[in-house]
Amino acid sequence: MKKGRIFSGIQPTGHMHLGNYLGAIRHWADMQHDYEAIHGIMDLHAITVPQNPDDLRAATYETCAAIMAAGVDPAKAIIVAQSTVTAHSELAWILGCHTPLGWLNRMTQFKDKAGKDKEKAGLGLYGYPVLMAADILTYHGTHVPVGEDQKQHLELARDIAGAFNRACNQEFFPLPEPVIQGEATRVMSLRDGKKKMSKSDPSDYSRINLTDTADEIAQKFKKATSDSHPTITYDEENRPEVANLITIYAALSGKTSEQVVAEFDGQGFANFKKSLADLAVEKLSPITQRMRDYMADKSYLDSVLKSGAEKADAIAQPILRKTKELTGFWVK
Ligand code: TYM
Repeated sequence: MKKGRIFSGIQPTGHMHLGNYLGAIRHWADMQHDYEAIHGIMDLHAITVPQNPDDLRAATYETCAAIMAAGVDPAKAIIVAQSTVTAHSELAWILGCHTPLGWLNRMTQFKDKAGKDKEKAGLGLYGYPVLMAADILTYHGTHVPVGEDQKQHLELARDIAGAFNRACNQEFFPLPEPVIQGEATRVMSLRDGKKKMSKSDPSDYSRINLTDTADEIAQKFKKATSDSHPTITYDEENRPEVANLITIYAALSGKTSEQVVAEFDGQGFANFKKSLADLAVEKLSPITQRMRDYMADKSYLDSVLKSGAEKADAIAQPILRKTKELTGFWVK
């Protein structure tokens, strides 16, 4: 008996990084045994900012390879490219009609991404969280494992589900639970401990990509910003960069931050960074290798995405149909 149905996804933009892995994807691999799971490569979300079509296609393959390399087994969990299941966008329209602008105006990600000139931001970027709600609700998803940065969007998804349920006077959509777990729910940039590690940061030194070589990983940790304080202490407020490195070490080693601090007590920073780089290489290089193997077999990736599309569509269509009936549409 499964504990519920997971939906979670990642945008195919740039390379997958350590934040995506520690904050989300590795939990997907753990949870696939106890939950029914659907994982999306969120291409409709990706186009809310301009994308080059060839890069988007390449990133879709790479993301599919990375999800599997991180341990998600397509025989257990469904891996789907979002745009191949039309229910996502159809349901987004219906749910958009239940979403007051006031709710969308509170979304901090829109404010960050739109920047100063909001008039120039696209409708897609503004409606992004409605599409996110549709992603989850179109499968009647109950659990959503994500990093901390998605929390506000998931609260909105619950509100939107509630608004639809009230309108049709029944508990049709389950209210999805965010699952934000582990030591590293918010991995920060290696250059600035106040900014999250992100694919869009112009500096590649700010993040560890799952495609990085052992040398690149070692270099990036070596150059990671720290401070002049000689000891290793966990102080998120005053020493955010150091706290971030401790958190990464803890998440990769399966220890707590306190244990990591105790382990490196009295040792210099250079030593800690070297151990961190070695640990990251040890944990990430098998993933990178598997990713390369998958990437070399495009026809296998095509078959995973094709079968994922069929399986996901089979779950989504009856839920969409019922949503249309509840809305009052004539259905064929
Ligand atoms: P995306 O593509 O930005 O990130 C994918 C997952 O990685 C997590 N994550 C992080 N976790 C810890 N530290 C970080 N620095 C870090 N950066 C990213 C994210 O929280 C996410 O879990 N809007 C979503 C994609 C999406 C989605 C959904 C997720 C679309 N529809 C429905 C869940 C359910 C996004 O842009 O994730």
